[in-house]
Amino acid sequence: MKVSRIFATIMLAILALAMLAGCGGETPATSTPVQSGGASAASGAKTYKDMTLCFPQLGAESDWRTADTASFKETATTLGIKQLVFSDAQQKQENQISAMRACIQQGVDVIALPPVVEDGWDAVLTEAKNANIPVIIVDRSVSAANSLYAAHIGSDMVLEGERAAAEFNKMMPNGGAILELSGTTGSGAAVGRAKGLRNKLNANIKIIDSQTGNFTRAEAVPVMQAFLKKYKPGTDFQGVFIHNDDMGIGAIEALKSAGVKAGDLKIVSVDGTRGGFQAMVDGWFQADVECNPLLGPQVLDMALKLMNGQAIDKEVLTNETVYYPDKAKELLPTRKY
Ligand code: AHR
Repeated sequence: MKVSRIFATIMLAILALAMLAGCGGETPATSTPVQSGGASAASGAKTYKDMTLCFPQLGAESDWRTADTASFKETATTLGIKQLVFSDAQQKQENQISAMRACIQQGVDVIALPPVVEDGWDAVLTEAKNANIPVIIVDRSVSAANSLYAAHIGSDMVLEGERAAAEFNKMMPNGGAILELSGTTGSGAAVGRAKGLRNKLNANIKIIDSQTGNFTRAEAVPVMQAFLKKYKPGTDFQGVFIHNDDMGIGAIEALKSAGVKAGDLKIVSVDGTRGGFQAMVDGWFQADVECNPLLGPQVLDMALKLMNGQAIDKEVLTNETVYYPDKAKELLPTRKY
């Protein structure tokens, strides 16, 4: 009797263990990675309420960047995500890397990284991948192998430079000389725009000098002043390609102080911010190549797909255009950034 009761108890225990093991096999979710720690659809889809998104913003160097940050914060609030882990790296890669490491440690669901420069991301991207945290590269590009990140969402910076070249080709059919006020050295935006300009600029238009203003108004002023000491506007150069509107506004300040008038030079800028539109209304910019900062909705949508193991596109390029002074006055009041 006693023996049979012991036998029955053992059998029940074995049965219970077998059932538990069976349930475990169907346990979904976090252990079925799609290069991520996301849940599989079978477990019930995750929603924005489940999402902790890490956004180590690269800085606050321009109106474009301010609009980009606002786009992420507003989208996160509107969609009601669990947490947006935001930080401002003040244009320093080491700060972005530290912020990413803290996010990996915290176990966030997705990291959206706007990389200040292209190189130097391999180690931290590998760490995120090993932790099953997918990374969406946002805005600028990285040089790391694309197997280290989930996707890139942003502008085609080379195309932006090519569009600027097309404007100079139209405005300077007989050739001439231009200066380039470039963005942050080594950044995907500056590298791409410089490359695009050189790809498409007519051979009779020479780039006689190129210096960085680090995408800021403040740094663009002394760079333009130094250019004006070396080169006489109108004589030594007829145009300036400026990698963003903030630097354009800084350059205008320096040009005005040197007695240069709006329209004396052909100036093409990038971004299409309200400041850039005002510079077109005032006659300083002849064209403004659009670079759209409102990336929050697209990135959060992709982040949720990654959390749910859904298919995503590896490269998502923003549809952009070129703005001209003739429509600037009309469009300025409706510009969002
Ligand atoms: O990477 C996008 C660029 O970064 C924008 O053109 C510029 O304004 C910003 O600082």
